[in-house]
Amino acid sequence: MQPAKHEHWSSGFTFLLAAVGSAVGLGNIWRFPYVVAENGGGAFVLIYLAIVIVFGIPLLMSELMIGRSSQKPPLGAMQSFGGSRVQKLWDAVGWSYLLVPMGILTFYSVVAGWTLDYAFGMGIGTFNNLEEGASARMFQELLASPVKLVFWMTLSIGITVGIVARGLKSGLETTVKILMPALFIILIILVLYASITGDFARSVTFMFEPDFSKITPKLVLMAAGQAFFSLSLGSGAIMVYGSYLTRDISIPKMAVGVAFADTAVALLAGFAIFPIVFAFGVDHAAGPGLVFVTLPIVFNDMGGIGQIFGVLFFLLLAFAAITSTISLLEPMVAELSEEGKFKRARAAIYCGAVLWFVGVFVALSNNILSDVHPLGFLPLFEGKTIEGVIEFLSANVFMLLNGMMVSIFVGWSVKRSVTLEEMGLGDSVLFKIWFLLVRFVVPLGVGFIFYDVVL
Ligand code: TRP
Repeated sequence: MQPAKHEHWSSGFTFLLAAVGSAVGLGNIWRFPYVVAENGGGAFVLIYLAIVIVFGIPLLMSELMIGRSSQKPPLGAMQSFGGSRVQKLWDAVGWSYLLVPMGILTFYSVVAGWTLDYAFGMGIGTFNNLEEGASARMFQELLASPVKLVFWMTLSIGITVGIVARGLKSGLETTVKILMPALFIILIILVLYASITGDFARSVTFMFEPDFSKITPKLVLMAAGQAFFSLSLGSGAIMVYGSYLTRDISIPKMAVGVAFADTAVALLAGFAIFPIVFAFGVDHAAGPGLVFVTLPIVFNDMGGIGQIFGVLFFLLLAFAAITSTISLLEPMVAELSEEGKFKRARAAIYCGAVLWFVGVFVALSNNILSDVHPLGFLPLFEGKTIEGVIEFLSANVFMLLNGMMVSIFVGWSVKRSVTLEEMGLGDSVLFKIWFLLVRFVVPLGVGFIFYDVVL
């Protein structure tokens, strides 16, 4: 059988929609606000912004470059530059770029399932007339229900497989062209609404007035992890999307565009959520339950219109999640169909089946399997459930390691003439700054963070 043909984005703009779709996800709307709240507001936001600029943009450029230059999915890409004495190492990095997104997908699909459950529940009025404490109880009930978790997880994997199976143009492009504008419109409506009814001024102070005494190594670490996850770095998504870029498109401009849009959405999500949270006096350090526990209370308090905003909000989350899950599935499917022997649709279905199987265990580690600690005999994994182990390995350990390895690869192994040409910046100051960051600052910085988190 002929390997599948390598497709290309219709335009730079569709690439941006898709890459921003990958970057903007649960990480921005669900995770960013509560991590900001838990880590002292403005100080965290400041460090986060610095990390996006110093690590995020250079790495986005590096991953896009490897993809576009090779015109291959991650493993093929890492093998196509040639001439390295440690090619085995780069092969391993290529594998890791394929496996990390699959790992992330197993738990990401479960959380994406929560958003579907909430959008549906809001729609049929399950959250109307909430009594005291009911909201927290309902969230716990969802987590405790194997049937619900597996049902919604199955649906989110099914939707993802359905889109990815159709290929780049009719699957990915069509989806992001509809979902991304919808997402921006919903987000703007929610921010406007929050700024009128909520405590907007206090939110601005909270997010932008740094209390420098709160900056600790742990905060820097949290900010770096959040930035990597939010920008979809270290995990094949950006690399494979880069491989669909044509040569006339500027990689630096695209990288800046993705970083800017992703950060803007995270901040906007803060402005959609904090004004309401402050105005209603809910505990803003509510952790992962922030949007699932507190917002239903708030929507309920608003009366009839609250139900509409509730549906909108959770649809927003679901859309954001889907444009991310497709980018998490795409690397492996592209690899199997272009370099392996599978038709694209078949590759998507096989991957979906594997994900679903692992996903069931991940979903059930919230309830029936909550006492199973697979690597509990190792100190690093003590007390971690199946979900915890997969999340820690994919989103903490290997995601960071991958980013570090790729910056070393681009900075030290790929020929400078190749990078010079791909960046299209000439041998300018900007190019030199990028090269310096990629050769020294990113590997050392990420290595240090990694050392701190993992070792
Ligand atoms: N960036 C997405 C978010 O913020 C999640 C995501 C999509 C992702 N693709 C990724 C995270 C690849 C890491 C790697 O929700």
